[in-house]
Amino acid sequence: MGRKVAVLGAGKIGEAIARCLASSPAADSVIVTKRNISTVSFDNAIITVSDRNDEAAERSEVIIIAVKAGDARKLLKQIEPHTTGKLVISVMAAVSISKLKRFLPNAKIVRAMPNIAASIGESITAFCAEEEMTQNDISSVKEILSTFGETVRVKESQMDAVTALSGSGPAYIAIIIDAMISAGLKVGLPRDISFRLVTKTLTGTANMLSSHPMHPAELRDTVTTPAGTTIAGIYELEKGAVRTAIMNAVEAATEASRSVAMRFEEELNS
Ligand SMILES: NC(=O)c1ccc[n+]([C@@H]2O[C@H](COP(=O)([O-])OP(=O)(O)OC[C@H]3O[C@@H](n4cnc5c(N)ncnc54)[C@H](OP(=O)(O)O)[C@@H]3O)[C@@H](O)[C@H]2O)c1
Repeated sequence: MGRKVAVLGAGKIGEAIARCLASSPAADSVIVTKRNISTVSFDNAIITVSDRNDEAAERSEVIIIAVKAGDARKLLKQIEPHTTGKLVISVMAAVSISKLKRFLPNAKIVRAMPNIAASIGESITAFCAEEEMTQNDISSVKEILSTFGETVRVKESQMDAVTALSGSGPAYIAIIIDAMISAGLKVGLPRDISFRLVTKTLTGTANMLSSHPMHPAELRDTVTTPAGTTIAGIYELEKGAVRTAIMNAVEAATEASRSVAMRFEEELNS
């Protein structure tokens, strides 16, 4: 069933979400907002652009908040009178459900963490919801989030880890792809061929693991023959402590997410 949806904050993630929503049956109208509306345009007739958060919230049944946390306070005050009984989905990192509830006491609050693959409908979006939510509400949330990829429900205490793993994940994967393309160049492959080989190897491997679930180590062992080429490569990866580096990166990002959240809580309390 189509709904009237507002996406407040048409930046990188808000714009991606609005486009996916508009081309799905989950929404029959989408209002997007930003302060400077001259910097965005859509060629989909069901999307309208506005610089009025209050009006967009008033005219919508579901409200998605996609501004940076630092811009949230003013926006939350603007929309509060128009949120009673409405589903409000925040994709802002570091803003807790209890903090959102303090500003929007009569809304049904959901916190979600998509990633930038939402721009091609391929996000994995983790979400958590306030306790009083009905099964109907949760179904609506899943339907809306599914327009830009897959969904998984988590506990709110896991959101910093999610932010660090899958929210920031595309940046880590891009670095790995970049490194592999450079590796291809180093062993004599042209850049365009290297790019295609690396990106398809990545998506093919990921699709294989998700469609025929097995432990990644099993897949690794399947392609690793004694004294062969793959083990020669793996030996160098282990020497370079690649796995430790990735685990350290995600742990550091989780800590960073926690401290941003704490800073933001203090700001909102002040
Ligand atoms: N980018 C990602 O991959 C990603 C993934 C998951 C979650 N997030 C979260 O999504 C939020 C937005 O991130 P982003 O990367 O999309 O940032 P962004 O590109 O900077 O977008 C934020 C947008 O909000 C608009 N904005 C700011 N204040 C506003 C207001 N009062 N009313 C209406 N619009 C306003 C800005 O446009 P104007 O300046 O024209 O107003 C801007 O286009 C952040 O909280 C982030 O944590 C991002």
